[in-house]
Amino acid sequence: MLLKKIACAAVLAAAASGAQAEDLKIGVILPLSGPFAAHGQQLENSIRLYMKQHGDTVAGRRIRLIIKDDTGIAPAVSKRQAQELLVRDKVDLLAGFGMTPSAFSVAPLAQESRTPMVVMNAATSSITTKSDYIVRTSFTLPQVTTPIAAWSLKNGIRTVYTIVADYGPGHDAEAEFVKTFTAGGGKIVGQVRAPVNTPDFAPFLQKAKDAKPDAVFVMLPAGELGVAFVKGYKERGLDAAGIRLVTTGDLTDEGVIDAMGDAALGMITSFHYSQAHESPENKSYVGDYVRAYPGQRPNFWTVGGYDGMRVIYEALRKTGGDADGDRFMAAVKGMRWTSPRGPVSIDPDTRDIVQDVYIRKVERVGGFLQNVEFDRQEDVKDPGK
Ligand code: PHB
Repeated sequence: MLLKKIACAAVLAAAASGAQAEDLKIGVILPLSGPFAAHGQQLENSIRLYMKQHGDTVAGRRIRLIIKDDTGIAPAVSKRQAQELLVRDKVDLLAGFGMTPSAFSVAPLAQESRTPMVVMNAATSSITTKSDYIVRTSFTLPQVTTPIAAWSLKNGIRTVYTIVADYGPGHDAEAEFVKTFTAGGGKIVGQVRAPVNTPDFAPFLQKAKDAKPDAVFVMLPAGELGVAFVKGYKERGLDAAGIRLVTTGDLTDEGVIDAMGDAALGMITSFHYSQAHESPENKSYVGDYVRAYPGQRPNFWTVGGYDGMRVIYEALRKTGGDADGDRFMAAVKGMRWTSPRGPVSIDPDTRDIVQDVYIRKVERVGGFLQNVEFDRQEDVKDPGK
């Protein structure tokens, strides 16, 4: 706290004298190796793209990134890195946080040190309740699950078997799906939680098939797991048996959808971002991203990072470059802008993002598999809190 006051006084003094203010350091913790490395890299890409587009100086302070690789689901590693960033590097802000366990392990440190923590992906609902200094620019699982449960009821699905990853995001999605689906008269005929690192979904898929539901609802963290799941769904004959698949858009994220190939065609998902979202803001975002990273596709990870940087830049502009936890958070609350995903705002009570959630269908568009949006629920707040 004292250190921050000194830093803040230095900024003001520098501004008054016209001298160069101190660099503003952002400690970024991301999965840059291990099973989620591709996604951590996507998020870093977007952070750098935002800085390239908007310059590396805000309110007179040069932004310096200090990036750490937490390897994925490794809460002890994330925590140690955050400690080093805070104590040794004396960062002003913490950002990144791909996976839920990483965000949970660092939240108490953000609270204790009153350091703003910008969660750019981790999506378990309760994360923002763990520190007053957290703001989230991604989504929550309950937020994107309610619309697909409602869509299922409206589209003739009466019985569902749920399969979710056995950790925070999966538990959240399962609870929200069961709540909305059963409240509307649907019946859950079976539930299973798969280890988050399982390489083989065969036993879970067989149980689901034997229960003969109208549909399977699935939530898995985006990545190779989803590819294995979708392939297994076909191979085990759930598809041929007429069992429909409904899911949050993590499964068909643009980072892995090409690896699924035609097996993904026709899949119905609900989510907050699609590369195919039709808006001028998204058109220019996608164009810039693809030019900066040829051969790669923007997805929900990249948008979480891009909007996270926007929140940081805009908050600093409002505070005149002061990253004091209380001032920064006051600047963040109620912020509103048009993201590549559509109109968004930061809920002043929960510090979570409020956004439209879209129902999408996987189609081939111009040679690419895309999540084509065809319905939308506007201004969805996290229903999980
Ligand atoms: C998370 O760990 O919070 C997480 C990761 C990947 C997703 C969704 C949630 O697709």
